[in-house]
Amino acid sequence: MTIERIIDKKRLNYRLTKEELAFAVNGFVNGKIKDYQMSALLMAITINGMTDEETINLTEIMLNSGDKIDLSSINGIKVDKHSTGGVGDKTTLVLIPLVASLGIPVAKMSGRGLGHTGGTIDKIESIKNFNVKLNMDDFINQVNSIGVALVSQTGNLVPADKKMYALRDVTATVESIPLIASSIMSKKLASGADKIVLDVKVGAGALMKTYSEAKRLAELMVKIGNHHGRETVCVLTSMSEPLGNAIGNALEVKESIDTLKGKGPKDLHELVLKLGSIMVSLAKNISEEEAYNMLEENLNNGKAYDKFVELVEAQGGDINSIEVSDKCISIKAKKTGVIGDINAYKMGEIVRDMGAGRLTIDDEIDHGVGIVLSKKVGDFVLENEELLKIYVGNKDVNVNEILDCYSSSEHFFDKSPLIIEVIK
Ligand code: URA
Repeated sequence: MTIERIIDKKRLNYRLTKEELAFAVNGFVNGKIKDYQMSALLMAITINGMTDEETINLTEIMLNSGDKIDLSSINGIKVDKHSTGGVGDKTTLVLIPLVASLGIPVAKMSGRGLGHTGGTIDKIESIKNFNVKLNMDDFINQVNSIGVALVSQTGNLVPADKKMYALRDVTATVESIPLIASSIMSKKLASGADKIVLDVKVGAGALMKTYSEAKRLAELMVKIGNHHGRETVCVLTSMSEPLGNAIGNALEVKESIDTLKGKGPKDLHELVLKLGSIMVSLAKNISEEEAYNMLEENLNNGKAYDKFVELVEAQGGDINSIEVSDKCISIKAKKTGVIGDINAYKMGEIVRDMGAGRLTIDDEIDHGVGIVLSKKVGDFVLENEELLKIYVGNKDVNVNEILDCYSSSEHFFDKSPLIIEVIK
């Protein structure tokens, strides 16, 4: 077996055997197969695709490339949640204390942002001194004592994905459904949860631009999860505009706190309750309706927010120290009309370039910068009424570029639904 032959086979659109995939992935992880050879194989896969069987095999090989987390010493059913990435997506920050406030253990590992989307770990680090680097024993002990912990991904979890993703990021091979499915699912399976809820974003601000692509990805991930005996549910949700109003780390933490107090923006509140209902119904084996009512109650009675404070304090954070930039500029609408569209992808890039995100993994983040939308798609706005606020740091911001993210509509219209479909 040679890597040249494997690349050639995929280039000619033949199926790869499990042995061939293992030869390529394991050889790449241990350095015998070079970056340029793996890049060529990834490009052949991106162009010609893979069968479900190939994708299931690839996921298993990636999963077995590193450590697997054992959560069996935590009592109860552990349900993990993952999003394929969106602009303004702070649902994890709200969901984990909310679900934990119902006595369901939440052992959450999250990532940092890269590209136009943020990451939960960068967001939570807006809270001064919040420690995301617990060792495995402390992580598990904290879940056993207060019911929830949030840490950054550990060093040797799916090293194959780490190396492959770094190549994909710079070789235009991110947007391959089998590669995305195996990347996400190998990490979810390695993280040790019993059940998995996935939020697959669809639209201009997401990796999956169309419903049919998103559905194919969701079905594939459900199939991979079930193959490993982990019940997996995917929710297709719209990312045609940023989620909630805030984009930028500290601003998103503040909006999460509002949401935990039952005072969040409508779309974020709706998404949290949908994903939370599925998580709780899976963990407690109750109906989604029953789960929904329990979650809503804890948003309104303060228990969800109290659990968040407990989480922050347990990890050394200071809940009173979340620093948003004090340089705030109010941007007014240039004309009267209805907001037809907000380009979430472009807005995500602008906020990243203001300092909220990174272009390379080593870039420093400015947690205090970002944008807060005063109007969303479908809202009516008068000329000179406030459209958004910009929280500026030490990088230049081009206001016209931000205004270019908006298009207006002459008429009121029915907004497309946020929750598109549930796939199990
Ligand atoms: N998120 C991942 O973890 N992997 C991908 O390939 C794409 C999005």
